[in-house]
Amino acid sequence: MSAKTFYLTTPIYYVNDAPHIGHAYTTVAGDVLTRWHRQRGENVWFLTGTDEHGEKVLNTATANGVSPQNWCDNLVENKWKPVWKALNIANDDFIRTTEPRHMERVQRFMQQLKDAGHVYAGKFEGPYCVGCEEFKLPGDLVEGNCKVHGKPCAMLSEDNWFFKLSAFVPALLEHYKKNPEACQPESARNEVVAFLESGVRDLSISRSSFDWGIPVPWDTDQVIYVWFDALLNYATAIGLGDDPDSQGGKKFAQTWPADVHLVGKDILRFHAVIWPAMLMAAGLPVPGKVFAHGWLLVGGEKMSKSKLTGIAPETITDHFGVDAFRYYFLRAIPFGSDGSFSWEDMGARYTSELANDFGNLASRLIAMIEKYCEGVIPAVARDENLATMLESTVSSADSMMCALDFQGGIAAIMDFCKRVNGYVTEQEPWAMAKDPANKAALEAVLYNTAEAIRALAVLLHPVMPQTTQFLWESLGAQATLGDISTQHISAVSAWGQLPSGSRVTKGAVLFPRLEEKPE
Ligand code: ME8
Ligand code: MG
Repeated sequence: MSAKTFYLTTPIYYVNDAPHIGHAYTTVAGDVLTRWHRQRGENVWFLTGTDEHGEKVLNTATANGVSPQNWCDNLVENKWKPVWKALNIANDDFIRTTEPRHMERVQRFMQQLKDAGHVYAGKFEGPYCVGCEEFKLPGDLVEGNCKVHGKPCAMLSEDNWFFKLSAFVPALLEHYKKNPEACQPESARNEVVAFLESGVRDLSISRSSFDWGIPVPWDTDQVIYVWFDALLNYATAIGLGDDPDSQGGKKFAQTWPADVHLVGKDILRFHAVIWPAMLMAAGLPVPGKVFAHGWLLVGGEKMSKSKLTGIAPETITDHFGVDAFRYYFLRAIPFGSDGSFSWEDMGARYTSELANDFGNLASRLIAMIEKYCEGVIPAVARDENLATMLESTVSSADSMMCALDFQGGIAAIMDFCKRVNGYVTEQEPWAMAKDPANKAALEAVLYNTAEAIRALAVLLHPVMPQTTQFLWESLGAQATLGDISTQHISAVSAWGQLPSGSRVTKGAVLFPRLEEKPE
């Protein structure tokens, strides 16, 4: 069998409204990481999608006077998918929890858990937050309000089906003790362990007071609890429970377990407690890693659809462009910490890092090759310092990106970019050009610079796919080296790949000067 597929998921987002930059943050991070792994030559599967059942979506649809299915169809097709397309998200699949492929597999899984004795009938009494779609403990509330949504909880009293979650606490504690990388960052793991040690109740996994959900197979007056339904998407999308000889069964064997579930810290417990327990109950392997990143804040609070504080990604991309958007959040905020969007900070980084350090370097180089070398890449040369720094850059960027330290990985690449700028400043090719006796030395400087930019384009491709593609074409690399996306990370630092004699072309300015900030 071929090597296991690198499998990464984002949360499936509630379609109670259009996406904001918090959702885009997670999805872009997943896209950058999967593009990086593809460029490592791995088989990759990248899944995102939408969470469509439950009271929250039902209430929103009802308030808007449409059926929940119509509401979801409209939002998914007209809001969610177009935003991912505009942000250049290269997901391999998009799952909607209202699709038959999901609903059938969820029902089969639920029945198996029941047959294996992990499900029993009980009564749920207590607070429930519709915003979180979560049964709350008294400690989760402040004066009766949900801590996250700041709103009163509904008091439920329902006859429900329960999952014996508490039975899996010892196995979960053991799992995180043995595999600390399975829940990251460390603060998230500590929180999960503390929660497990504080005593976990069994979980109600059905609801009976509304019907927008997947029917419980043996009790169709009840629908499956939306989180139990939603978490299973990661497995149903790749063929959970299908005959091993079928297409779905083969896909599952090749892909499961997920290598990384990328989530925000708001939904850590669901992913690091309930989900692995569900898998353990079914005798399936648990995910390699749950990574809980921080929140984008507005006025010190989590940006949120429910509170209508979301900034639409277009507000930012219309001004800065898609690639600067993809770059900024991963570069500016340590992955795992909270951060806030600031127009000024983004403007400053755009100008200094993208327009000046990267964009200008590329346009100066192309202009000099046109001016001094008739637009043709000169003879292969090698600057030992640049070549050595490139090697260490690739190796540290690779280990940081694979560890989801996007900030560190991007900083390492941009440090190399700064060094190349320093090289050009020190060598002063424009001064060399004044004396024909310096021709060979001048050409060597230009070759070295071009070669360094080739490497930068490849390393930044996962982060900024479109800009680096333009750069790739203007270096003449498309025709000689092939698609930029097929350039392997492990081969980037082999010096001397740009063939001499290929023709450069002046392309569009990569990061144009910014217009005035819109009102
Ligand atoms: O929780 N900052 O969906 P959801 C950073 N359907 N990330 C944010 C964010 C913010 N302010 N706001 C949202 C759900 N996110 C469930 C998930 S998965 C089986 C089911 C991102 O629409 C972040 O990834 O509320 C967060 O965890 C997710 O969106 C929550 O999206
Ligand atoms: Mg939410």
